[in-house]
Amino acid sequence: MVSWPAGEKGILAISARVIDGKAISARVRRAVADEVQKFTSGTGVVPGLSVVLAGDDAASVSYVMAKEKAAREAGIAGNVLRLPGSATQEQVVRTVEALNRDPAVHGILVQLPLPGHVDTDAVVRTIDPGKDVDGLHPYNFGLLLAGKPTFAPATPSGIQRMLIEEGIETNGAHAVICGRSSIVGRPMAALMMARGNGANATVTVCHTGTRDLAAVTRLADILIVAIGRPEAITANMVRPGAVVIDVGVNRVAAPDRKSGFRLVGDVAYDEVARVASHITPVPGGVGPMTIAMLLQNTLAAARASTAGTPASL
Ligand SMILES: NC(=O)c1ccc[n+]([C@@H]2O[C@H](COP(=O)([O-])OP(=O)(O)OC[C@H]3O[C@@H](n4cnc5c(N)ncnc54)[C@H](OP(=O)(O)O)[C@@H]3O)[C@@H](O)[C@H]2O)c1
Repeated sequence: MVSWPAGEKGILAISARVIDGKAISARVRRAVADEVQKFTSGTGVVPGLSVVLAGDDAASVSYVMAKEKAAREAGIAGNVLRLPGSATQEQVVRTVEALNRDPAVHGILVQLPLPGHVDTDAVVRTIDPGKDVDGLHPYNFGLLLAGKPTFAPATPSGIQRMLIEEGIETNGAHAVICGRSSIVGRPMAALMMARGNGANATVTVCHTGTRDLAAVTRLADILIVAIGRPEAITANMVRPGAVVIDVGVNRVAAPDRKSGFRLVGDVAYDEVARVASHITPVPGGVGPMTIAMLLQNTLAAARASTAGTPASL
């Protein structure tokens, strides 16, 4: 536990344990790299991950580059298929179909958001469920909801892994999840309510229809926030001693920086760190875990495809 008297040397008192997503992710990635090496030397198969990127949204480009680099470092053949932002629905679908047919590709990830004129659901439905390492295909999503996950979406499964690695008790805990998106909130709820390690929680999901958000968030033993609203969760919305996981990544103007922006989460970090027992920073918290779990899912896909069995976690 780190703490300073409030105001000393201008530093705010922090009492929460800061969960180091970078360090946990590095451990997971090393373990995946070891497993990949064993798998490849045993089978001669190099796991392959292909990322489809349409357009040149700066944040998406940087995420995709990070995924490709991490894949290479883990012994996975990473490959990015870049399409122009003007790519048609048919072009994106045809790209995915070609990857479905390619036996060297075990994992396919379509980087979201796609350009507005492309029907994301239709593209996701095109992905072979056995290669859907982001777990977004309705088949995999349905199995996750049924409590039989195959590929769980990388961000929520990264959060679950983080809770396990930090020794945070989830069994019987009240987990409040803010946000109900398909990539974070909904699959997070499904994972937390499942039976087993890092799960078996009582789950509440909040969204814009929630009448009194603060009244609900204050009930959380574990508060997971994915709303895309910079620093919206303040200290008075958090029960003292709660575990706070901040998924949000928001760019806010910072004229003093060369980039012109800085990244903040959905949680007002400095003040919430004074009441929470554990907190994730932004950056360096949830983000690195997302990549680690993507690599793990790709290895699982390669194993399943080589063995001719359905993937399972
Ligand atoms: N670190 C990572 O790896 C990672 C991965 C994915 C996302 N993210 C970040 O996580 C954040 C959320 O992403 P997303 O894709 O899940 O977002 P999204 O698709 O925009 O969904 C946001 C969700 O939050 C809810 N919401 C918005 N404002 C709210 C409010 N004031 N009170 C209660 N609920 C509110 C929305 O409710 P309605 O459904 O009612 O509209 C919606 O369900 C973003 O900052 C994103 O950049 C990070």
